[in-house]
Amino acid sequence: MPLRDVIASRIRAAGPLPLAEYMDLALYHPELGYYARAGRRSGRAGDFFTSVDAGPLFGELLAAQFAEMHRLAAPEGTAAAAAFDVVEAGAGSGRLARGVLDHAAAAWPGLYRDLRLTLVERSPAARAAQDATLGPHAARLARAGAELPARVRGIIFANELLDALPVHSVVMTAAGLREVYVDSRDGRLVETLGPVSPAVEAHVERFGIRLETGWRTEVSPAAAGWVTAAARCLERGFLLLIDYGHEARELYSPTHAQGTLACYRRHRVETAGDGRAAAPWLEEPGARDITAHVDLTAVRTAAEEAGLETLGTVDQTYFLLGLAATGSPPDAAPDGGGLDPIRRRLAFKTLLVPGGLGSTHKVLIFGKDVGKPDLRGLSFSRRST
Ligand SMILES: C[S@@+](CC[C@H](N)C(=O)[O-])C[C@H]1O[C@@H](n2cnc3c(N)ncnc32)[C@H](O)[C@@H]1O
Repeated sequence: MPLRDVIASRIRAAGPLPLAEYMDLALYHPELGYYARAGRRSGRAGDFFTSVDAGPLFGELLAAQFAEMHRLAAPEGTAAAAAFDVVEAGAGSGRLARGVLDHAAAAWPGLYRDLRLTLVERSPAARAAQDATLGPHAARLARAGAELPARVRGIIFANELLDALPVHSVVMTAAGLREVYVDSRDGRLVETLGPVSPAVEAHVERFGIRLETGWRTEVSPAAAGWVTAAARCLERGFLLLIDYGHEARELYSPTHAQGTLACYRRHRVETAGDGRAAAPWLEEPGARDITAHVDLTAVRTAAEEAGLETLGTVDQTYFLLGLAATGSPPDAAPDGGGLDPIRRRLAFKTLLVPGGLGSTHKVLIFGKDVGKPDLRGLSFSRRST
């Protein structure tokens, strides 16, 4: 049965679904969801690019940051006690972890020796591909599953996880805040407005989100909840999140008065205003990525409320430049990084380019019980452009 019919029959049984519930089914239905049906969705043959698709350089630079974090937070003691957790969430098929491990093995022996890898990934198809992707490092994988481990001493990191979590959509009407639901009419999925769900009401209140009449936006109790859960797992160490997003003052402003919900299919972005469909996310559920920009202010608040200290927020460009400038220059990896110098420079440019991944993507780093170290990746955070 196509996913559209599964969703329509749920709507018939239980009434219109909040957009977040629809998005959860469209992306993560166990058999028919977008991420469930394939182990990999990004890259030239996929629907969108992430920094991981620029090649091994991204993992190499992250390894340099992790090596510094290991030096700052590694537990002391016997080999068994010295295990340093590196937990990647939303790890997909494990390509980024592979890049990190390749470079740690070549350039950061202390990190590689102590590293205990956990991959957290909701899609069973992606999890099934992880051992093969890790190749020679497969034995370093201590745990793979859909849930965060209970206790982490080391690093939890995620690249483009939060933007893939289901969002609720709300509209400020003259009669107050209303939520967007998905209904089924005459064989078509359509949007309709209804009462605000309790989780959304609590989120709007908690983060002080204010909208003007006519604005539509997305809110993500799931992203805030994930950050809280990750912060609670972290006993000592760092949480490093890379994603595209904005501070609340910009996300909930006239610049984004119609929200940031969008679909990606074969490298074409589809938004509400692009004329193809009023709500492209309702077309062929399961066939396209659905995503929304992350509220960085809510992420920071959730992390701090759960006991983490904010160490910095920086554009990806400056994060990677900080790492490259202080020890891992773009054309001087000890093993050549598996790329010839011209390809390395092109990859570096792809990761840094203004208006592209470099400035749309932000890096947020939090610490727990590690003081306030001057991390290499944050060395350009105080900049004037
Ligand atoms: C946009 S993809 C990014 C994949 C990879 N990190 C990259 O940068 O190429 C988001 C990934 O997060 C996974 N995911 C979504 N919700 C998750 C959750 N709650 N826990 C773990 N993984 C999740 C999805 O299945 C998908 O593989």
